[in-house]
Amino acid sequence: MTGPSGPNGGAKRTSDGEDAQGFYGRWARLYDLLARRTPGIVALRKRAAAACELSPGDRVVEMGCGTGANLPHLRESVGPEGSVVGVDFTRPVLERARGLTADYDNVHVVRADATRAPVADCDAVLVTFVVGMLADPAGAVSDWADLVGPGGHVVLVNAASSRRWYAPAVNAALRAVTILSTPPTTRLRYDEDPLDRLDERVAAAHDRLRERSSAVADETHALGAVRLTGGRVR
Ligand SMILES: C[S@@+](CC[C@H](N)C(=O)[O-])C[C@H]1O[C@@H](n2cnc3c(N)ncnc32)[C@H](O)[C@@H]1O
Repeated sequence: MTGPSGPNGGAKRTSDGEDAQGFYGRWARLYDLLARRTPGIVALRKRAAAACELSPGDRVVEMGCGTGANLPHLRESVGPEGSVVGVDFTRPVLERARGLTADYDNVHVVRADATRAPVADCDAVLVTFVVGMLADPAGAVSDWADLVGPGGHVVLVNAASSRRWYAPAVNAALRAVTILSTPPTTRLRYDEDPLDRLDERVAAAHDRLRERSSAVADETHALGAVRLTGGRVR
């Protein structure tokens, strides 16, 4: 669930797109299972949707929606009169998201880059397990804050190193998962430790959100290895 941070950086504000799309395209089915069945994940997704502070009739966008595991929770918050848009650049995961939400006529999925998404006028943006894949995560958060505007909400959820007393064991497991989910997974050496890079990108994104907003949620979950930050944009 950490998402590939990718080995080579990339153009400003874009993720390591080719690798990421190939990776998630290949593993869409397995990822879908993990995204919806990992113990504790449903409660975390509900909490993230709640931090968006949506009301019936609102419009919410999920950037990097993957197989759509958050979309039903967002739909529940905005009701039949609201609307939900899921954005992702990987076709096979989007097909799964489309299938999962086929019964709702006010949930739409769009294939696009989350850092240049063709969406406007929304009340909240939710982004879970994605910013570690972006070359300029802080810049992306600023763009999402601009998109929702003052009073709108941006909510981020990400895996990152735990700071609890038992952190070494948790972080060893997280490092293994991060390496396994950093394409190409056959790589033996990295220019930068994938977990260090994930931590840097997650910190940059969450710090920028704190700068741009008043806190709605500032929490850790999963033994301290998952951060949830939600803010009302100032
Ligand atoms: C770890 S998955 C998370 C999916 C979903 N948010 C969840 O919580 O299950 C990361 C997703 O982000 C997508 N992604 C990464 N960078 C992206 C970008 N720049 N634009 C659109 N989608 C992106 C990938 O295709 C993948 O589906």
